[in-house]
Amino acid sequence: MADYKAMYQQKLGTAAEAAQLVESGWVIGSDAGSAQPDGFLMAVSARAQAGELEGVKVHTMLDSYPYPFYADESLFGKIMGVSWFSSGGARKAVNGGFGDLIPAYYRDMPKAIRANYDYDAYVVSVSPMDSHGYFSLATTSSFSEAMIDKAARIIVEVNDQQPRALCNTQIHVSQVVAIVENSHPLPVLKPPVIDDVSRRIGELIAEQIPDGACIQLGIGAIPDATGMALKTKKDLGIHTEMFTDSMVELLECGAVNNSKKQIHRGKTVTTFAFGSQRIYDFINDNPCMEILPVDYVNDPNVICQNDNMISINAALEVDLFGQVCAESVGTKHMSGTGGQVDYVRGACQSKGGKSFIAFASTAKGGTISKIKSILTPGAIVTTSKNDVDYIVTEYGMAHLRGESLGSRARQLIAIAHPDFRDELTFEAKKRGMLI
Ligand code: COA
Repeated sequence: MADYKAMYQQKLGTAAEAAQLVESGWVIGSDAGSAQPDGFLMAVSARAQAGELEGVKVHTMLDSYPYPFYADESLFGKIMGVSWFSSGGARKAVNGGFGDLIPAYYRDMPKAIRANYDYDAYVVSVSPMDSHGYFSLATTSSFSEAMIDKAARIIVEVNDQQPRALCNTQIHVSQVVAIVENSHPLPVLKPPVIDDVSRRIGELIAEQIPDGACIQLGIGAIPDATGMALKTKKDLGIHTEMFTDSMVELLECGAVNNSKKQIHRGKTVTTFAFGSQRIYDFINDNPCMEILPVDYVNDPNVICQNDNMISINAALEVDLFGQVCAESVGTKHMSGTGGQVDYVRGACQSKGGKSFIAFASTAKGGTISKIKSILTPGAIVTTSKNDVDYIVTEYGMAHLRGESLGSRARQLIAIAHPDFRDELTFEAKKRGMLI
């Protein structure tokens, strides 16, 4: 067997040394959340701050470290972040005009990467090398393979606290040009606060989920609350984009065993995992976790192959047509499209499948109705009126798919907060919707 340890030692250096490889004008690709090599990206940022680099672009998604290029406007022109999902620090830069955003369905990102981008380096945080010379891509598959295909070189940052995912992309030591070691706990997401409203919504949705169903839960308190409300179910399966804390809970309590899935039976399928240390511990060396590329996992034609596929996602506002905005408050970016539409479509194509978009009826201490006559000017439509299925608030559930405008308006007004129902009724009548 080749001496992979010697190869490793030859390529090993500090983050500052690896950052010296970067030249002005480089485009650097990295993937989501805990897959990002923070030591290396901080070292590149330091070079830009020192005036050594110009025109560097860094692609990220769900950025989880306090990168200067997303926080410090004065770095614009030297180094810039380009996000595939405007959240965290990227949100500030995108709204502030010193960071950019690439709108796309999550399932399409690998295709967009292969068609539109060439990376001077793909950079990633990996778990330690195994005896065969492989690094596991740990928590994230997502669009990493597409970035690897389009990258001139690969730089890895080895974090011995990264879990080793058995069923995920592996990178061989012979493929990489530089190795950095950086041991630290993985970033964790602030746990969502599950209040009475989220709990109520979770319970309403749980009533609609039969034993044996296959679930996807999105980002936010309500998908998490729904997860917690499913603990009494049996034989559930998971086919999801993001593997979350409530899913670990469901697996550990036995509500999920993946035994009734039509594809990947016995396995939990996801494209990335992000949340608490409990998630990372669960993934480590777990043969039942399949972390696969997003163009496969989020393809509606794959998602729908599991019967009774149920998707649960959140939103910021919905109008009386049923258009769902989950990305912006007016023109202010809050998030990306992510996989919401992929799962709305996949669930609705599945035999017995349903898709739920759920949110508290009001925002900002009850002063704003999230069900609106028309969307706030500038609001981004994430899920179209033709794709939407169920809308849920703490006041109940509206089934919109295939329903007329009149039925949609009546159902949505009935689940709006009582303080806003008269106003919504007045607006709907004015527009001739309540026939
Ligand atoms: N008008 C004004 N402000 C609003 C609002 C509205 N209609 N709705 C929400 N807000 C504010 C909230 O008050 C909150 O403000 P704060 O941060 O100052 O407290 C903020 O916007 C976030 O709202 P919240 O309801 O707490 O969001 P969340 O954490 O539950 O996330 C999404 C909701 C929609 C942003 C999130 O689900 C998302 O990113 N979705 C898109 C991608 C997706 O669905 N992917 C699916 C698979 S992972």
